Amino acid sequence: MNAHDTAPVPPPGCPAHGSGARVPLYGPEFAADPQAYYEYLRHYGAAAPVELAPGVEATLVTDYAAALQLLQDSGSFRKDARRWRAFNEGKVGPDSPVAPLLAYRPNCMFADGADHIRLRQAVTDSMARVDTRRLSHSTEQISGYLISQFGGRGSADLLGDYAKQLPLFVFNELFGCPADIGDRVLFGISGMFDGVNAEKATSVLFQAVGELVALKRAKPGEDVTSWLMRHEARLSDEEMVHQLALLLGAGAEPLRNLIGNTLHRLLTHERYAREGGLIDEALDDTLWENPPMSNYAPHYPAADTELAGQQLQAGDLVLVSFAAANTGPALKASRQAGSNRAHLAWSAGPHACPSKEPARHITVTAIEHLFNELPDVELAVPEDSLTWRPGPFNRALATLPARFTPVRSGQRTVPQQGTGSAGQGSRPAPERPAERGGMWSQFLNWLTR
Ligand code: HEM
Repeated sequence: MNAHDTAPVPPPGCPAHGSGARVPLYGPEFAADPQAYYEYLRHYGAAAPVELAPGVEATLVTDYAAALQLLQDSGSFRKDARRWRAFNEGKVGPDSPVAPLLAYRPNCMFADGADHIRLRQAVTDSMARVDTRRLSHSTEQISGYLISQFGGRGSADLLGDYAKQLPLFVFNELFGCPADIGDRVLFGISGMFDGVNAEKATSVLFQAVGELVALKRAKPGEDVTSWLMRHEARLSDEEMVHQLALLLGAGAEPLRNLIGNTLHRLLTHERYAREGGLIDEALDDTLWENPPMSNYAPHYPAADTELAGQQLQAGDLVLVSFAAANTGPALKASRQAGSNRAHLAWSAGPHACPSKEPARHITVTAIEHLFNELPDVELAVPEDSLTWRPGPFNRALATLPARFTPVRSGQRTVPQQGTGSAGQGSRPAPERPAERGGMWSQFLNWLTR
């Protein structure tokens, strides 16, 4: 379809409509109905001119075939953000709200070629050592702890009280964080994503992760941090800190939203309830229709080039709309026909998410455990009063208020082994944390009560 073939319907309230300006992917209108925006963007063809924040221009690929072409051609389209022309020319500053997710860092997400293979291999090999049984066990323990904090009330915000907290606690466990470091990791990563005092939060996070690296160099354990460190890629301390910060950052926010969006689906679609709570199916439907990472995969053409009929200059910012590609006519038709053509919620090509199995596993376990503990949990507000956080990259609920019959809090399953490591085999009991302290200390206290 081409811009001139049909009269496109503008998304409600879209300020770009009719002005010839770029379509803004931020603000409450976009957050309220992104699919209306994608529908509108499709009239430009396979890719469209968008604005990610005031003054931050990008080309957004909305078509499945064009997205695959971009994601799989790593010779022509590079990930290294030091190629980003607008940033280098000072048109976008480091204080832009989108800079934290787009500006260069020395990690595998921003690396190309041999550098990428080396860093990614270290990440995938280390994550592959996580034992699924232990991951289920820790996820259940953490879920039990979080429910014990609100279960007696009979109501909760399943986003803020549960989906947001659980991944961070699981990562602390996977990375073998002791109490004090874990508290600061939780503080830092929450602050970074909430945009509250983000600069301070980022420095707290990097300081804490740096200390974790020093601790594990001196005293390695059976955890992802120690496995990364012992990997044949021989990562330097700086590389260690950046890969760990990437795992936390690339994992925590989309995982929170995968849990939140799947819970939203289960609580708002009668079908799953009637058919006996098909969590796996609700999760797959969420990945197709409401993927947590909606627009991302930033790439930069290595030279002036053409993509699906669009002229691009070297160093232009090009992103993929996973959400638009998944729901576009081509993929929708093949999904209905039962074809194997996969959705793009995990991206595709050399930078596709290396952690989809653990992410799925954590999500299903967290939701299953919640439903087991709170069997009559239901939405506490009308569905149409729910709001979604603004921003171009993530599809994220602001809150998910729910109610349920209160349960007695403080019950917990006794761990068969201590916490603090993620692999197979016997592990040492956790060190006893300080009686007071941050969220991670309190969880460790609860476990050892
Ligand atoms: C255990 C949780 C997770 C971890 C540790 C994790 C980690 C990562 C890492 C390290 C990368 C970069 C790979 C590379 O550049 O080679 C990545 C990419 C990606 N992840 Fe995940 N992830 C997690 C969960 C998720 C979830 C829940 C989603 C959404 C369904 C997701 C979607 C993506 C996407 C779309 C990319 C590609 C980004 C790009 O091309 O720039 N991830 N992930």
